[in-house]
Amino acid sequence: MDGTTREAMSQVQGIPLPERVVKYWARVEHFQASKEDLLIATYPKAGTTWTQEVVDAILNDGNVEKCRRAPTHVRMPFLEMTSADGLNAGITKLEVMDPPRVIKTHLPFQLVPCSFWEAGCKVIYMARNPKDTVVSYYHFDRMNLNQPEPGTWQQYLEKFMTGQLGWGSWYDHVKGYWRERQNKKILYTFFEDMKEDPVREVTHIAQFLGKQLSKSVIDQIVQMTDFSAMRENPMANYSTIPDTIFDRTASEFMRKGEVGDWKNHFSAEEDAAFEEQHCKLMADCMLSFISWF
Ligand code: A3P
Repeated sequence: MDGTTREAMSQVQGIPLPERVVKYWARVEHFQASKEDLLIATYPKAGTTWTQEVVDAILNDGNVEKCRRAPTHVRMPFLEMTSADGLNAGITKLEVMDPPRVIKTHLPFQLVPCSFWEAGCKVIYMARNPKDTVVSYYHFDRMNLNQPEPGTWQQYLEKFMTGQLGWGSWYDHVKGYWRERQNKKILYTFFEDMKEDPVREVTHIAQFLGKQLSKSVIDQIVQMTDFSAMRENPMANYSTIPDTIFDRTASEFMRKGEVGDWKNHFSAEEDAAFEEQHCKLMADCMLSFISWF
């Protein structure tokens, strides 16, 4: 990544994406996935990095040294992301890696390159309740100097609710993968479930990946991917990203890792308006977010 200028959003098929992503979109659209590749898909701030670390630990049988071979974005490139000059792109990293590759994306279902579906790739989707997601995204946009100015919390919440933030509407995003989960090889997971019972969730992900792991290896993976362990791990906490891009005086990447921090941000009025809209926009979907309250 390069550049420290906050940039505007542009659009692909009506979805707001950073200008640099849109500029090099054709490369993303034509990306050739291989059938052994694994896609980790999330709306921003849903626990992407956590899922990536869990998956890498599973694939490496809980071997700490192997999982520390490189920073997250090198081990598991970010499909659509690129530097402003297009040279340091997720695609470029992927092109020199042999399948099976673990690939990160925030793209909504309809923008995922067709080759992933044609090849029959497995996908792990992680969803997080929208209130904690928008709080986490707000703090991330305060510290990530490549992202547009977040403005005030009130302005930011309005943008989230109207689908104006990068990667578009949270509502459409979570529903898009949910609707397709039985038609494709999609394992749909929740941040809150992972917090509630990481042993259960890591075991579930390992089974999805076809890995038979002993109880002690699962326990080791849970310990390695715990919030405090990841926060101290320079290969998992994005501390390799320079301060000129991540302004750590504004916020940390590994900020709190909790369920329910939204209560420290939403006013009663904001909460009521949010709930009302949520009920309307999610009325056509069985998805529920159990741990909001
Ligand atoms: P907070 O800002 O609420 O702390 P993403 O990786 O999708 O950008 O998501 C980042 C969010 O996931 C941040 O949330 C971060 O702290 C949290 N996170 C990262 N690793 C975690 C872990 N091991 N356990 C719990 N939360 C984690």
